[in-house]
Amino acid sequence: MSRRSAYRVRARAAALLTAGVLGAGVLAGCGADSDGGRAAGADGASGAGAGAGASSGSASDAPRLTVGGAFIPEPVTTGMAAGFFTVENAGGADTLTSVTSDLAAKVTLHSTTGGTMRERGSFPVPAHGTLTFGRGGNHVMFEQLTHKPKVGSTVHMELHFKRSGTVDVTVPVKPATYNPSASS
Ligand code: CU
Repeated sequence: MSRRSAYRVRARAAALLTAGVLGAGVLAGCGADSDGGRAAGADGASGAGAGAGASSGSASDAPRLTVGGAFIPEPVTTGMAAGFFTVENAGGADTLTSVTSDLAAKVTLHSTTGGTMRERGSFPVPAHGTLTFGRGGNHVMFEQLTHKPKVGSTVHMELHFKRSGTVDVTVPVKPATYNPSASS
């Protein structure tokens, strides 16, 4: 009994390690964020058998991305603003490589781990998974704003993906305290 559960723990640790290796290039700058790897591993394992006689190469399936829930909290000054959104992927793995916008001279991608914010060069979009940019976590940082966005207006943002190319997103500006993910 205890032997079997020990084996299970080890198998799970191996799966996490494997997922970690796949994302290693991306995660190198940012120690302990394993969320993306966990989702990719779980879905990759169950997804392979679901297709009708599908081949084993789920990682090579075309990504099918949908961007939703985007918002920018109205910033206090033109010094800085943050952007949030969710990428749902109904296909193979992809990578978010950069974000551009006419809102700001400088747009960077950040993760937050244990309250510490770090700039990241890219973010993995797991196969049949989700990449979330939300309060207290991953975020787009806009610096040197071209104007101060007001509640009720919109901002244009382009998400650039390694395989899917560019996705244009129209982002509503929300009140400074808006937080749709507070319940989850
Ligand atoms: Cu940041």
